[in-house]
Amino acid sequence: MSYSSSLLVLSAVTLATGQLLAPLPETFLNSSATWAWLSYDKLQFGTLPGAFNRSILDAPAAAEASDAGLTEVNAKLNSSDFVAYDERFFDIIGPNAKVEHVQQLDIRSHEAPCLVPGTDLLFFVEWGPREEGYGQHGWQYLLDVRKNVLQTVTTSPPTFNVHGCVTFNNSLYVVTDGSLNETGYLARIDPSNWKRTTLLNNYYEQPFGGFNDLAMDNEGNFYLTDSKSGWGKGVVPYTPPTSPATYFVNGTTMRPKMIQSTTGNANGVALSPDGRTLYLPNTGVSKYYPVRKDPYDDRGLWAYDFVSSKDGARLPVLANKRLLNNPITYFYDGIRVTHDGLIFASAGDGVDVIDPDTGLALGSIRVGGGRNVAVSLALGTYEFWIVGRGGVWHVSGLTHTLN
Ligand SMILES: *[C@@H]1O[C@H](CO)[C@@H](O)[C@H](O)[C@H]1NC(C)=O
Ligand SMILES: *[C@@H]1O[C@H](CO)[C@@H](O)[C@H](O)[C@H]1NC(C)=O
Ligand SMILES: *[C@@H]1O[C@H](CO)[C@@H](O)[C@H](O)[C@H]1NC(C)=O
Ligand SMILES: *[C@@H]1O[C@H](CO)[C@@H](O)[C@H](O)[C@H]1NC(C)=O
Ligand SMILES: *[C@@H]1O[C@H](CO)[C@@H](O)[C@H](O)[C@H]1NC(C)=O
Ligand SMILES: *[C@@H]1O[C@H](CO)[C@@H](O)[C@H](O)[C@H]1NC(C)=O
Repeated sequence: MSYSSSLLVLSAVTLATGQLLAPLPETFLNSSATWAWLSYDKLQFGTLPGAFNRSILDAPAAAEASDAGLTEVNAKLNSSDFVAYDERFFDIIGPNAKVEHVQQLDIRSHEAPCLVPGTDLLFFVEWGPREEGYGQHGWQYLLDVRKNVLQTVTTSPPTFNVHGCVTFNNSLYVVTDGSLNETGYLARIDPSNWKRTTLLNNYYEQPFGGFNDLAMDNEGNFYLTDSKSGWGKGVVPYTPPTSPATYFVNGTTMRPKMIQSTTGNANGVALSPDGRTLYLPNTGVSKYYPVRKDPYDDRGLWAYDFVSSKDGARLPVLANKRLLNNPITYFYDGIRVTHDGLIFASAGDGVDVIDPDTGLALGSIRVGGGRNVAVSLALGTYEFWIVGRGGVWHVSGLTHTLN
């Protein structure tokens, strides 16, 4: 379905806002969600009036502008649920979609969202050191997404500082940063009895620095990102043994192998649907110690291809590193790929939808601005959940199937 037939009915008298934001496709005029279309393709966004400025850490909505029309545009962007940068975004999201802030939790990172297979439960964690008494906790959240009831769960044995989660074969697979008395590990959690089994906790006797996230391929192999964030934020007391890195772990033998390393920082990780391409956002921009943001460090979304053996088998070696995209705003944290390859990336004030071929951000699904931050997400079929600073958001009624 395409909405292109109904575009661009420009009125004769245009306000600056009207010149800078494209008119919405007619089908979206009655949407219960608020929309804005920031289009370099359709209107005059290439040449802005007056003086303007913004930090790369802030969304376009937060830019300073001397022009009243541009200020109005920014207010409109900041009050929108969906900001389209590309016409295709309308087809992906559709006019019936909405964004609801279903759980208002505090301005601490929430992370590692996973839909528990066969249930209506969203597993996620509250991550990071707590101010009061440095209290680390061995529980995680479970949100009943239909009844919107929040409870907690404690695995057996308890699991501290989960930082990433994926589901595979009816289990949850999680990675942790480690805690005050142990280093990070990969584990399987059986959600039928909440038993936790540790699968990997060392690289040839070397501890990991602190896992950030993971992906799995169809064969059950793992791709783990090891970061300095847990150490930098005081979640673990152990100095990281080496630079942030990505490990391939053979799901049969659990033999780990480093496949990528960075002097920036590791964060989210996802595979293309055919398992041939690995996506890794670098988040060197977010300095782990002391915690601050350096706008000159790396924040690219990098794509890599797996090398093939002579008989076509995929080898745990990466080639063809390329900058797919640099986020319009902030840096990419958790990322997920849809069944047809679209990349959904948490990026500050929202989740960006990225075309895997061009790397262009097609649009952004916003979590409201202010101190709210989209940190990671879990995909359903016509819906998904965003967790981050400020709690949980449910994005529902999408036109496009996600998985
Ligand atoms: C939008 O709502 C108005 C007022 O209720 C109605 O007249 C119009 O036909 C609707 N447009 C579409 C595209 O649904
Ligand atoms: C934009 O703002 C930054 C931070 O305040 C400042 O350092 C920079 O000079 C400004 N640039 C322009 C073009 O105003
Ligand atoms: C899936 O789980 C079942 C039951 O625990 C197990 O027997 C099977 O080996 C698992 N399959 C894979 C691909 O891991
Ligand atoms: C580590 O600390 C946790 C939380 O205080 C505690 O439950 C656990 O028994 C400790 N583990 C070891 C090996 O000391
Ligand atoms: C995993 O290890 C097994 C046993 O050595 C091997 O047969 C298999 O090819 C490995 N898988 C990958 C994806 O490297
Ligand atoms: C955007 O809106 C949010 C929520 O109302 C508010 O907290 C924030 O300050 C606004 N940001 C800007 C730049 O106006």
